Amino acid sequence: MAAPPRVAVVGAGAAGLATLKALADAGVPAVAFETAGTLGGLWVYGSPGSPAYRTLHLNTSKGRTEFADHPMPADWPDYPDHTRVAGYLAAYADRFALREAVRLRHTVDRVARAGDRWRVHATGPDGPVQVDVEAVVVANGHNRVPNRPEPYPGECAAAQMHSHDYRGPEQLAGRRVLVVGGGNSAMDIAVDASHAADRTLLSLRRGVWVVPKYLLGRPSDTLNGALARRLPWRLRQRISQRMLTATVGPPTRYGLPAPAHGFLQDHPTLSDALLSRLTHGDIQPRPGITRLDGHRVEFTNGHADEVDLVIWCTGYRVRVPFLDPGLLGDGADRLPLYRHVFHLDAPGLAFVGLMQSTGAAFPLLEAQARLVAARLAGDWAPPEPARQAAACAAELRAATARWGHRRPHMRVDFDAYLAELHRELAAGRRRAGATR
Ligand SMILES: Cc1cc2nc3c(=O)[nH]c(=O)nc-3n(C[C@H](O)[C@H](O)[C@H](O)COP(=O)(O)OP(=O)(O)OC[C@H]3O[C@@H](n4cnc5c(N)ncnc54)[C@H](O)[C@@H]3O)c2cc1C
Ligand SMILES: NC(=O)c1ccc[n+]([C@@H]2O[C@H](COP(=O)([O-])OP(=O)(O)OC[C@H]3O[C@@H](n4cnc5c(N)ncnc54)[C@H](OP(=O)(O)O)[C@@H]3O)[C@@H](O)[C@H]2O)c1
Repeated sequence: MAAPPRVAVVGAGAAGLATLKALADAGVPAVAFETAGTLGGLWVYGSPGSPAYRTLHLNTSKGRTEFADHPMPADWPDYPDHTRVAGYLAAYADRFALREAVRLRHTVDRVARAGDRWRVHATGPDGPVQVDVEAVVVANGHNRVPNRPEPYPGECAAAQMHSHDYRGPEQLAGRRVLVVGGGNSAMDIAVDASHAADRTLLSLRRGVWVVPKYLLGRPSDTLNGALARRLPWRLRQRISQRMLTATVGPPTRYGLPAPAHGFLQDHPTLSDALLSRLTHGDIQPRPGITRLDGHRVEFTNGHADEVDLVIWCTGYRVRVPFLDPGLLGDGADRLPLYRHVFHLDAPGLAFVGLMQSTGAAFPLLEAQARLVAARLAGDWAPPEPARQAAACAAELRAATARWGHRRPHMRVDFDAYLAELHRELAAGRRRAGATR
């Protein structure tokens, strides 16, 4: 008979699976609860809560995205589609025999402290279940709850939807479409619309740097990666921004607003096709919206257009609804966590995936999971509480200097953070050894 779980993991997307794998490697029995009927999280097109659309591909290259211990097949393209990524996560679960630990169709409703343990309540097809464990790992993802903007002045008569509900170009056919936002959802959906819709407008309230997926004949994130390992971000910024503008010109060249921040001070917006569709006139750029009245949209430059459908690509809210709000302080997106993983005041509560990376996610999830597993196996110890708090404060200062008030608590620089997690694993092992 399997040993009773010592740890409960909430979610079996990439983060939950990486956590189960690391815990299994460390010999720590665990159970994961997953709302959906399939594991793989948002990469499973059509799974409840997934924002995946038919045309979705990775925007981080496969070599930078794969888990260190499970490479993507060599014959795959650099930017595989969602079906391949979902299959890759399923193969990961099979290869490391993770499925047995996952209770599908079980939604965690509440996680509460029970003495020095944690009580996890979930609801499954056969009713409520409860487990008592010594630790909980929150791996519930943060791209599931749409951030719907406050209504603009006017009575909008055009149809409206959030990008979370976008499944494919057939929803756009024959319509005059306005896509709103400067993130990756907006880029992809505007490009889809430029092929399927009658007319496509793209409204950005502020400028962003749009990076092609290939630069100098290589996946663009591999160029930055090679530089990142050696140089401070300010210097990388100067080099990368110069290289980008020398290759594709500034965003204003395409009619987009000028970015207010330097390159590498924002979440990267990646698209090959957007710039091409703009230069072909198949996407028409617009600034921010001032008013939506009937089918008419007015913009900050005084221009107005008629549209049938507005797609709000306005991002997501970070929510951890099953945790006591007292544990979330000013909100899940402002929660200080030691190395973006460990709760400062609640031993036994850890987060995998509560971060916003400048690059890919999976290798970071994998490294965070190893830290969690090492701690629960007794091989890793955190520093003194005061040092943890000081480390969080220093990181927040640096992140605010770089990213301003755009989610500074959650920002991590892919290469620097990955290196830091490796150092942290070694340092915590030394601390654990010293206290034994
Ligand atoms: C459209 C889109 C494209 C992206 N493209 C890339 C990319 O190209 N490269 C990249 O590196 N990253 C990309 N990302 C980031 C993406 O978040 C990560 O790749 C990765 O999927 C994160 O995994 P996760 O497990 O943290 O979250 P998710 O994949 O969202 O998985 C979370 C899981 O938790 C489950 N869950 C949530 N709440 C509960 C609950 N209460 N009880 C039980 N189960 C629960 C959900 O059902 C889900 O299965 C993209 C994100 C989006 C939205
Ligand atoms: N693999 C892929 O190709 C792919 C595709 C889609 C998404 N993704 C990933 O999924 C995550 C979410 O991306 P996302 O594009 O959905 O969200 P996002 O990155 O958060 O971008 C949201 C955009 O909406 C704008 N916005 C927010 N509120 C607005 C408002 N009230 N009015 C006008 N504009 C508003 C934001 O502008 P401000 O910055 O000014 O707030 C921002 O430009 C990211 O990690 C992204 O990389 C990846």
